[in-house]
Amino acid sequence: MSDVMTLPALSRRLDLPLRERLIVALDLPTVAAARAMVAQLGDTVGFYKIGLQQIFAGGLGLSEDLFRLGKKTFLDAKLMDIGATVGNATENIAKRGVEYLTVTGDAPIVRAAVTARNAAGARRPLILAVTVLTSLDQDDLSDMGYHMALDDLVTHRALKALEAGADGVVASGFEAARLRRLLGPGTRIITPGIRASDSPRDDQKRVMTPGEAIRAGADQIVVGRDILRSPDPAAKAQAILAEIADALEL
Ligand code: C5P
Repeated sequence: MSDVMTLPALSRRLDLPLRERLIVALDLPTVAAARAMVAQLGDTVGFYKIGLQQIFAGGLGLSEDLFRLGKKTFLDAKLMDIGATVGNATENIAKRGVEYLTVTGDAPIVRAAVTARNAAGARRPLILAVTVLTSLDQDDLSDMGYHMALDDLVTHRALKALEAGADGVVASGFEAARLRRLLGPGTRIITPGIRASDSPRDDQKRVMTPGEAIRAGADQIVVGRDILRSPDPAAKAQAILAEIADALEL
């Protein structure tokens, strides 16, 4: 990353405890496996992401269990439907003690989710708009019929989503610095696509190391396979937190 991006990003940052800057994606085949991972990670990790694999394995209820354990939960449902359906789903999710909920970053969908949450009188979940998946690159976008440069598309979608009321965005580290400059410190930027420099990329294309992503302006990073596949997941999570602290100059 360029130094020009790094310095302003650091001085304009959301105040969060270090432990909450790492969100572990519980992308595991069964609810039992997810529970075992949470137990293994213990106090090291305080924020978990429940995504489609867990939701369809019956793991939606994990969010309440994690809430009771004092952990925060990110429900990565990436909702995409007509406004009424997104609104009704958000109203139900708001009863689950979830901290973050993702919707696809289309403005009408964001607006429906935010309106439903507010109408329910709930402060949570914060609504995060997915900009462009970190598994996609410029060629994928062309294939899908998008002819904008990838970082311009991310910026465009982020600005539209925020205008529609989103509390934050999900974007790769490559767009985080530009978004941070444009959006200021109050907008959450959550960054998946995180890999140690020697880890396989798998299906991810826009990847960064934990330190690079934080220095670029991400508030929080999402890490799945780099921790889940590690022979010692708790040690790996601790090493990532140390890398984050280093990037934050703590
Ligand atoms: O295993 P890995 O660290 O690549 O997992 C990344 C997680 O973040 C996955 O659960 C994936 O669904 C999610 N995610 C992503 N890119 C986005 C939004 C969410 O990789 N733009």
